[in-house]
Amino acid sequence: MPRTCVDLPVSVDREAPVALTVQLGDRLRTAMRDGTLKSGERLPSTRALARQLSISRTVVTEAYQQLYAEGWLDGRHGSGTYVADLVIHTPATARSGSAVPGSRGALAGGGHGYGDGSAPAGGPAVPLPAGGRGHGEQMIDLRPGRPWVRDYDRAAWRRAWRKAADLPPGDRPDPHGVPRLREALAEHLRRTRTIAVGPEDIMVTRSTGNGLDLVAATLLRPGDRAGVEDPGYRVARNVFAARGAEIVPCPVDEDGVVVDGLPDDLRVLYTTPAHQYPLGGRMPISRRERLLAWARRTGAIIVEDDYDAEFRYDVAPLPALHGLDPDRVVLLGTLSKSLAPDIGVGWLVAAPELLAAIVRTRQNLSDRTSGPAQQAVAVMMEQGDLDRHLRRMRLEYARRRAAVVDVLGPMVTGDTAGLHVMVELPGEIIPSILEEARERGVLLDSTSTRHHHGEVRRHGLVIGYGSASLAEIRRGAAVVAELIGPRLADESRVAF
Ligand SMILES: Cc1ncc(COP(=O)(O)O)c(C=O)c1O
Repeated sequence: MPRTCVDLPVSVDREAPVALTVQLGDRLRTAMRDGTLKSGERLPSTRALARQLSISRTVVTEAYQQLYAEGWLDGRHGSGTYVADLVIHTPATARSGSAVPGSRGALAGGGHGYGDGSAPAGGPAVPLPAGGRGHGEQMIDLRPGRPWVRDYDRAAWRRAWRKAADLPPGDRPDPHGVPRLREALAEHLRRTRTIAVGPEDIMVTRSTGNGLDLVAATLLRPGDRAGVEDPGYRVARNVFAARGAEIVPCPVDEDGVVVDGLPDDLRVLYTTPAHQYPLGGRMPISRRERLLAWARRTGAIIVEDDYDAEFRYDVAPLPALHGLDPDRVVLLGTLSKSLAPDIGVGWLVAAPELLAAIVRTRQNLSDRTSGPAQQAVAVMMEQGDLDRHLRRMRLEYARRRAAVVDVLGPMVTGDTAGLHVMVELPGEIIPSILEEARERGVLLDSTSTRHHHGEVRRHGLVIGYGSASLAEIRRGAAVVAELIGPRLADESRVAF
């Protein structure tokens, strides 16, 4: 029987400006890191710990849920909460967690805040392709990677651009980006991604793709080997290949990229630890630690694509990998999911020397982000408009995801997060499902068509719920269920 830690050596400070849930989570993480709490040890029940600390049981439950989601805890021994199997290494440079000055932590300011509950309205976005269905009918677009862009606060949008327009355009743009926006981004990242960054650690990009390209142009020479997740994001592969790298597909499973078996000679490795694209898993802390140990040993730079980390619906967004080892990890963020791809603003966070090299690359390529767009985004962030939008969209996307799960049930895999889910299926039935769905007015995507870079390993539909309305999603998911049902019955002999 595992030992139960009856009296946990943790305390919380009611006077501190940090939420009790965040404090408790930080204390427990520290206890697990320094070995006070050991792998396999059983934690006290939420009731017992709440009594010990004289706090509400909800606080303890939320802290446990967050640590469970991050992979620190598990419940595999039956009932109860246990410390997971952890391989811990804390580099001297780590700047994550409670060390963040002024951090309100992951659960504060937007973690579970699902806003005012109003649902976006709007109709179908995609006109019929030539040769499609009957006149007047619309396609339901369930392809991944598209956010809902029809429900931002127009007054806030106009105000931001009016303020941006009051400023004259610059004649010598700062290659790091507008300082005011970098300040706002640093605060946003400290608060929502639990990393201790200042404006000097950030470069404003136009997109994830732009950030990837600048990293590739800085680090990769023709013939260098670049790892990409397989299945994974096509753009990462395209960008590295366009810079002359040899692409090395790296298998992923439910916990993200598989560390065992990663080659020792990768110059860079692209990964999506918060929400693997497209399978949808999150990388638990033990794998994060092993991934970083691999990178330190081999000298590889990890490129962390944090594309939809703002959208988690069960727990607060997981801390970024970058926070665990800022020297090894370049973090890429984007407004493409949280606002719209068209705004053309993203960010890159890297250690000082590497950032300076990336900035030099940018200058050599005369690459920049629009100053007025940066000013407008800075206004939206300073006024709290972006946070409000995120809170509203979290609620909306959570409802849409629930609608997909409601119709497709246990077939759906992937974390309760982001803007897409996976439905794993035998590979041979996928092409006909895509084709018939299209004939019935539903656009779908699959791992087999777009996401594999090497030997095909996982098959499935990738269903995006970002750009269709709730009603369309229900209709589209029903079509998918109708198409899958009989095929699965026919294929019941096929093991997958
Ligand atoms: C995995 C992944 N990363 C990043 C992005 C956003 O990229 P960008 O910022 O270049 O628009 C997407 C959009 O679909 C994506 O799927």
